[in-house]
Amino acid sequence: MKNIEWEKLSFGYTTTNYNVRCYYKNGKWGELEVSSSEHIPIHMAATCLHYGQEAFEGLKAFRGKDGKIRVFRWDENHKRMENSAKGILMQDVPSNIFWEACKKVIELNKEFVPPFGTGASFYLRPLLIGSGAQVGVKPADEYLFVVFGTPVGPYFKEGFKPVNIQLVRDADRAAPLGTGIYKVGGNYAASLASGDRAHKNGFAAALYLDSKEKKYIDECGPANFFGIKNNTYVTPKSSSILPSITNKSLMQIAEDMGLKVERRPVPVEELAEFEECGACGTAAVISPIGTIEDTQGDGKKYVFSKDGKAGPVSIKLYENLLGIQYGEIEDKHNWVTIID
Ligand code: PLP
Ligand code: COI
Repeated sequence: MKNIEWEKLSFGYTTTNYNVRCYYKNGKWGELEVSSSEHIPIHMAATCLHYGQEAFEGLKAFRGKDGKIRVFRWDENHKRMENSAKGILMQDVPSNIFWEACKKVIELNKEFVPPFGTGASFYLRPLLIGSGAQVGVKPADEYLFVVFGTPVGPYFKEGFKPVNIQLVRDADRAAPLGTGIYKVGGNYAASLASGDRAHKNGFAAALYLDSKEKKYIDECGPANFFGIKNNTYVTPKSSSILPSITNKSLMQIAEDMGLKVERRPVPVEELAEFEECGACGTAAVISPIGTIEDTQGDGKKYVFSKDGKAGPVSIKLYENLLGIQYGEIEDKHNWVTIID
């Protein structure tokens, strides 16, 4: 095991031993290649650089008390990457290449998979880019698929403590019929300025509204949004948000816990009715929301936690999700793939 202060890790990049690559050329995918270089050689006219032909994924591997490494719902990440690829006309990556690459990255970097009980995990970042040259606005005919991994701690420095969120009304991250449902770099570029401003204003993240009417909640920085009221888990249905695998899992866990689940448009005013709110995602896990401030609207401040603690339902959801991921709770939905 590497000599790393696992408990002190934040969500950042740490150099590991190897990454894995696969090239699509002449109409077919090649063999997986293992590399110890952190750089990729790239044509200056590659479509990923000019026309945003790139998609990525984020998934985690967890070391259990039994020493085994568990990968959470990689097949869902593969499906989403396939969907992203189709959405921006990239060559998609077959599921066996996706999994073999993820598995190899874990196996070759085992000493970087954090020990059980440290709160850290191993984050895998599959990346698909148009590497072929084009000058006209056209899809590339060559692609590069890379997977690297890095040990990470909590995405928000608060960890599992309520965070303060800024509601954004003067910017959108994605259009209703645009690319918000795909995990493509352009959406993140569109969110950088408002995200950075939220941080400078002392908030952990920006909360985006639907970009057409500005009436409904979309998502929360790099995470989906959920609210809890009357024993119900409520989460936005929108054509411009990323279908979060964590949220999908929490909807199932909520149902298993006996909660009702509603996926529907969530009007901003409904914030006043929620007993608890949270942001959820692979990186964010569950981040309880303490306050949401409508600084550009009527100035309203919605408060969900007065004592600096998460609410009881969020705590249960969090414990159940992590319990399954670390192998402490039965994986009855077959979400976990074990690597010995
Ligand atoms: N929304 C956005 C914009 C994200 O970047 C992410 C992160 O992947 C999520 C939501 C959460 O998705 P998931 O739970 O699949 O990680
Ligand atoms: C994730 O949760 O995996 C993300 O992609 C979030 C972010 C770091 C982009």
